[in-house]
Amino acid sequence: MADTPTVPAHLTGAVVRGAGRGRGLGFPTANIAADPGSRIPPPAIYSGWVVRHSTGVVHRGTISIGSNPTFCDTAEVHVEVYCHDTSDEFYGERVGLWFVARIRDTVKFASSGDLVRAARRDVLRSEALLASGHGRRVLGGALAAHRKPASV
Ligand SMILES: Cc1cc2nc3c(=O)[nH]c(=O)nc-3n(C[C@H](O)[C@H](O)[C@H](O)COP(=O)(O)O)c2cc1C
Repeated sequence: MADTPTVPAHLTGAVVRGAGRGRGLGFPTANIAADPGSRIPPPAIYSGWVVRHSTGVVHRGTISIGSNPTFCDTAEVHVEVYCHDTSDEFYGERVGLWFVARIRDTVKFASSGDLVRAARRDVLRSEALLASGHGRRVLGGALAAHRKPASV
């Protein structure tokens, strides 16, 4: 059973280039440079909504926060999202990630094949969480926040 989401429930940032490994794995991710001062949720795999600020388009996503220990030996934390419903690359765009639920811990897998099999299960789980009542409520909050003018 997935845990309840950690707070803060969302973060914003710009889409930047990652290592370029994800496409070869079959899980291309948008790498997010979180805005300065953002509180980044603890390393884990999460389900969440991705709001593209320029257009208001929302995608279903599975978010990886962590140091990618399967591939990297550094402690640098990456914030990445795999969008289930688009193959668009949106470099340079500003996005909001709205966290719905934590799915599992980040794992150092023995092979990239093991990671891909786990990621496939994560995406199925994430789809169910996004479609749940809680997932729909988080979407409602994300849409309301996006429509609200920045200042009045
Ligand atoms: C659904 C999903 C689950 C992931 N789980 C893990 C994980 O458990 N361990 C790990 O080392 N990396 C995990 N990652 C991150 C991948 O290592 C990362 O997306 C990949 O290396 C591509 O990085 P790049 O965008 O910098 O090229 C996950 C990514 C996704 C999309």
